[in-house]
Amino acid sequence: MNLLNGKEVSAKVLVQIAQEARDLSVQPCLAVIIVGDDPASRIYVNNKKKACEQVGFRSLEFALPTETGQEKLLSLVDELNRDASVHGILCQAPLPRGYGYDERAVCRAISPAKDVDCFHPETAGKLLLGEAGFLPCTPAGVIALLDDAGISLSGKQVVIVGRSNIVGKPMAILALRRDATVTICHSKTKDLAKITRRADILIAALGKLHFITAEMVKDGAVVIDVGMNRMEGKKVRGDVDFENVAGKCSFITPVPGGVGPMTIAMLMQNTLTAAKMAANIC
Ligand code: GUN
Repeated sequence: MNLLNGKEVSAKVLVQIAQEARDLSVQPCLAVIIVGDDPASRIYVNNKKKACEQVGFRSLEFALPTETGQEKLLSLVDELNRDASVHGILCQAPLPRGYGYDERAVCRAISPAKDVDCFHPETAGKLLLGEAGFLPCTPAGVIALLDDAGISLSGKQVVIVGRSNIVGKPMAILALRRDATVTICHSKTKDLAKITRRADILIAALGKLHFITAEMVKDGAVVIDVGMNRMEGKKVRGDVDFENVAGKCSFITPVPGGVGPMTIAMLMQNTLTAAKMAANIC
């Protein structure tokens, strides 16, 4: 079994991004909006800011109180859309419940040119059609991790467990672009283990602690764990029962230290792309 070390690979990617950023005539700038005080969101936002620092980007944080409201949130997005010094904008999900927030409306309000999360319908549509544009951070991070290990997707059976807009669906599109044969499974899938056992590359992205057990994995499979389940005491564990599954795999990602750091590296890549586009460099 080989570990796919996202911490190491993301560090390499960040060095390359920092190098490219140094050679740019503009300093890339990412604006991050966080509403409320969700502790997990706070950690993710801090990690994104830290990554910006590491690659020499400017980062702006807008920490809004829970009760800010949709209208004020949208007017901040509008202001950032019109600010030419801001290249990427993201609003950390989830937004607080019970205050009338509409997450999709916020995604639609962010200018597609600054949509580094790849959540706007135009960005998602371009992805589907194979047109140039931002790549969704977590799926792009998974592909970059496989590429770094020299694992080809072409002709492989890729099985994705989870159909979210953030991971499952865009992951399927990126795997398809690499000529994989893709299956998406979800909560209504019948005989799930039979399908997951067919996978050459199994991607778990359903958000259920240790859901993927050893019986669900083919010998020699590559297992990618996108899960981030927070335990009591702040520890993070994946959707894969790592202890029992690892022995069966050719490659597996740990949690933490697997896909998570790659997601942030791809966010930096998208922010760099946004800055280049704004400066007419690409
Ligand atoms: N919440 C969980 N993952 C993400 C992400 O990739 N982007 C944003 N904006 N919020 C998230």
